[in-house]
Amino acid sequence: MIIREQVLLAPYTTFHIGGCARYFAEVESDADIVEAVEFAHTLNLPISILGGGSNLLISDRGFDGLVIYMTGERVEIRKDDHGALVIADAGMNWDKLVGVCVEAGLWGIENLSGIPGNVGATPVQNIGAYGAEVGSFIEWVNVYDKNECVFKRLSKAECKLAYRDSIFKQEEGKSHIVVRVAYRLPQKGKLNIEYKDLIAYAQNEHALDTIADVRNAVLTIRARKFPLYAGTTIGTAGSFFKNPVVSSEAGATFSARFPDAPLFPQEGGNIKLSAAWIIDNILKMKGVREGNVGTWEAQALVMINFGGGTAAEVVSFAKHIIARAQNETGIILEPEVVYVGDI
Ligand code: EPU
Repeated sequence: MIIREQVLLAPYTTFHIGGCARYFAEVESDADIVEAVEFAHTLNLPISILGGGSNLLISDRGFDGLVIYMTGERVEIRKDDHGALVIADAGMNWDKLVGVCVEAGLWGIENLSGIPGNVGATPVQNIGAYGAEVGSFIEWVNVYDKNECVFKRLSKAECKLAYRDSIFKQEEGKSHIVVRVAYRLPQKGKLNIEYKDLIAYAQNEHALDTIADVRNAVLTIRARKFPLYAGTTIGTAGSFFKNPVVSSEAGATFSARFPDAPLFPQEGGNIKLSAAWIIDNILKMKGVREGNVGTWEAQALVMINFGGGTAAEVVSFAKHIIARAQNETGIILEPEVVYVGDI
């Protein structure tokens, strides 16, 4: 394994933002991970993990430590009578894995088609879209504990998955490097096509009869709604903020003030509000640009780097949105995107 110095990180992120890593290791195997962590310990360097780079905002000053770039792409499909256990390396492209599973007739993750990023980020963020969340399918996660220097297998319960959240984003899980993820996928199921956009697609465009139909529908809907990063100078990390989850009382107060706002009741009584709706309908900040950054004209929650944007510009624009949302609605928006380095 080669460890390089002063590697520019912007090209490794879908935001196209970020300064240099002091050290940069491409990690393909378990042995590489052990070696890279040992290197960081010897030089007393902090470690940051890079996968698809699709949910990160990296400081313009870069990262003064070791960036571990996960590149392993092995996939094993262990079939049984009911379906399969699909075990994929952290560096495998997520959408490629969804494609492989749909081809193999395995159900469940087709609604998560087209989400940028790699397998390693799926439990960290508990990625979700179009009425599905990856947490419903995760069986275990194999990690390397960089403090104890041992590999561990965490059960789904130990991952503490919640809405765009997991143990890996909490202090207690920060020492874990996700190495591979096992997903339990059935051979049969019921199509998950109740999400508003999928209902509209089935009515107006194409009947949804198979998991391949659902995958195609989701890819089509996403292509219309989300900016396509490949081959353009436009950068983005998808939804910039989480949808705020508030108590039922706070939800009722909000709803009385803004009766048109969509509400998404959660198990346990809390209410999820739509950050995109607040930014669009209350703040009137959809498609608004400040310098080189702004919100996307087709989805207010998506932040865009129009080219040449910096992390400082993104953060200043995000602070502006957060302050206005708090003033005008009392709701506090939190970034979904993970900040790396000194921001
Ligand atoms: N809306 C607006 N204005 C907009 C966009 C949406 O008013 O500009 C309203 C819509 O009318 C709808 C509501 O907001 O009532 C929700 O919109 P949408 O279905 O687009 O979903 P979202 O909550 O904004 C979430 C995820 C996306 C995921 C979509 C589709 C989060 C933070 N974001 O967005 O995930 O693709 O649902 O399921 O949960 C990501 O995590 O990076 C991401 C893109």
